[in-house]
Amino acid sequence: MMKQASLMPLILGGTLMLTVSAPILAQTKGLDIGKREFENSCASCHGVNGKGSGTVTPWLRKSPPDLTLLSKNNGGIFPMDRLYKSVSGEDTSAHGTREMPVWGQVYRMSAAEYYMEQRYNEEAIVRARILSLLEYINRLQVSK
Ligand code: HEC
Repeated sequence: MMKQASLMPLILGGTLMLTVSAPILAQTKGLDIGKREFENSCASCHGVNGKGSGTVTPWLRKSPPDLTLLSKNNGGIFPMDRLYKSVSGEDTSAHGTREMPVWGQVYRMSAAEYYMEQRYNEEAIVRARILSLLEYINRLQVSK
């Protein structure tokens, strides 16, 4: 019993060190915000490489488009404005039912949960999250 009790501060200290040092480590390795968010929220459908072969793809009614061909299919220009609207959900011209989550709405809800009653700029947060994703997707483009 005594032995176990004396280990507690050590265990707690170690846990605390891990909690504190993990973000610092991530930063020194160069935290890639867009890549991380893509892998967390998008890769299940679009695949880690963006080509559309995610783990849940077989269960979707529509197959997700290959996100590495967006520039190629648009005359070599990354169609930023159109994609922004498509990801955020502002694009209401989408035919039929949309299979992809409405990310503008998802990020608005997560900001509300995160900031609670603190003051925050909802639109700026949503825009920053979507832009960091699009910046990453832009890096996934195959060269023309
Ligand atoms: C549940 C599966 C699913 C998830 C998760 C998902 N997508 Fe999609 N995505 C799709 C499907 C399916 C389409 C095709 C349009 C539609 O039916 O909604 C699409 C379309 C797109 C398009 C439009 C391409 C074009 O040419 O118009 C972009 C960009 C995109 N997704 C990015 C993302 C990003 C960024 C994330 C993560 C934040 C994400 N997707 C998460 C399924 C998904």
